[in-house]
Formats: sequence, C-alpha cells, structure tokens
Amino acid sequence: MTGALPHSHVVVLSGAGISAESGIRTFRGGGGLWHDFRIEDVATPDAWRRDPEKVLAFYNARRRQLYSVEPNAGHRALAELEKDFAVTIITQNIDNLHERAGSTNVLHLHGELDKARSTADESLVYELGGKDICLGDTCELGGQLRPHVVWFGERVPELERAEDIVRRADVLLVVGTSLSVYPAANLAFLAPSHARKILVNPEIPDTVGLEAFECLGEPAAQALPRVVEELRNR
Ligand code: OAD
Repeated sequence: MTGALPHSHVVVLSGAGISAESGIRTFRGGGGLWHDFRIEDVATPDAWRRDPEKVLAFYNARRRQLYSVEPNAGHRALAELEKDFAVTIITQNIDNLHERAGSTNVLHLHGELDKARSTADESLVYELGGKDICLGDTCELGGQLRPHVVWFGERVPELERAEDIVRRADVLLVVGTSLSVYPAANLAFLAPSHARKILVNPEIPDTVGLEAFECLGEPAAQALPRVVEELRNR
C-alpha cells in the first residue's frame, strides 16, 4: 500500500515558554521581562528613534545571555520528530535554541537575536556571532545596524509563509505561548479541521477556540518528550 503517512506534516508554533526551562525569561506572567522593561521603551520603532542606545542595550543583554544557556529536553524532543515527520517550527522566539537542539526547519516570526540588519537597506542582514551591536556600527552602505527583530508596530514579514504552512498541518503543536500577541496568535487557529491539535502550557491560555485542542497543562520539557514519543509510535 502506498500513500502519505497519517500525521506526516507536523507544525509547531512555539513561544517564550519553551525556552523558560533553559533559563530564558518569558515576557508575561510572574518574572516576565515586561515587568522590568516597558515595551514602549525598548521594542518599538519609536523607542529606537528616541533612544537607540537603550534599545541596543536591551537586545545586547538578551544576546549575551543566549550564549550562557542550552536547549532543553523540549527543544531536543522536537528535533527528534524530524526522524519520522516533515516538521516545521514556527517560533515567536528570537533565541536560537531550536536550531541548537538540531531542528533544521525553523521560521522565526519575530526575527533573530543573533543577527543585525541595516537601517539603510533591510535586505542587508549580518550574523553577529554573539557580538554586541553598538551605536556607530554600520552596514557597507553606512547605515546604522539595528537588531534583526520585529518590533511592536512593525509588519511581520514571514506571516504569510507561516499561514500557508499551518494550513497544511496534519498535527499542530502549540507550545509555550500566551497567545496574546497578534498576528502570531492567529496562527494557532488556521490548521485544517482534520489536524490533530495539541497545546502544551502549564497555564492554559484563556483563549476562545482552544476547544479543538488536547491541552496539556505541563512544562514543555516534561510534556514534549512524551508527546513526541507518542506521535512517533503511532
Ligand atoms: P509570553 O511571555 O507572553 O508567554 C509565555 C507562555 O509560556 C505563558 O503562557 C506561560 O504560561 C508559558 N510557559 C511558562 N513556562 C513554560 C514552560 N516551562 N513550558 C511551557 N510553557 C511555559 O511569551 P510569548 O507568547 O512567546 O514579541 O510572547 C509572544 C511575543 O510577545 C514575543 O514573541 C515577544 C513578546 O512581546 C515581540 O517582542 C515582538
């Protein structure tokens, strides 16, 4: 008999919670980054115009921390899935822990912390390799470099590609996101009706539309190895 495997395309929508057990702070909830920093001060185009040094300091600190943490069992379990399935990870995270765990197909909806982009030409993107971005660091055209991230109020360039991917999911895993930031949160509700939908979060978000999901109220590093094992043994 031939034909596609059932559940052959697994799509993961991940958020800050999957990296929490690696030691990276989430944004909201107890201990979240947005308790210590105001979005308007560090994560908007206005903040960049007003005080670029403060914005750079915020992202430089996040980037330095990235080099002191490791992927956890949740990231690693998702990488294992590639042995049996076509897997696409759509992450809101700007860290690189999915890639460091071995996932090869990762779409960063909100950009990447370890890259810089020219303010003169947004197609000029540079690997930072852990280095800070400072005022005066420029691209070859002389434009100041900025973090290669999506700020509040900016368009999400990868959104349409992400929507197409979710619409072709056979399994959708939504992991570690409060589903409170749009348009990213909408992606959770675009999978076809036949798709199996699983949500992993110790605090299940109070979001309309989650009735179609199997909700696992556990930390990602605990739940994902089991979920992945189950999917692989079906
Ligand atoms: P949030 O900080 O809003 O939500 C993190 C979620 O992770 C919460 O629902 C927690 O309950 C959950 N969580 C905590 N520990 C967990 C664990 N060990 N395992 C699984 N889940 C856990 O983060 P995001 O939803 O990712 O955007 O936030 C979305 C966007 O808002 C971010 O990409 C960022 C932020 O502002 C920009 O900066 C543009």
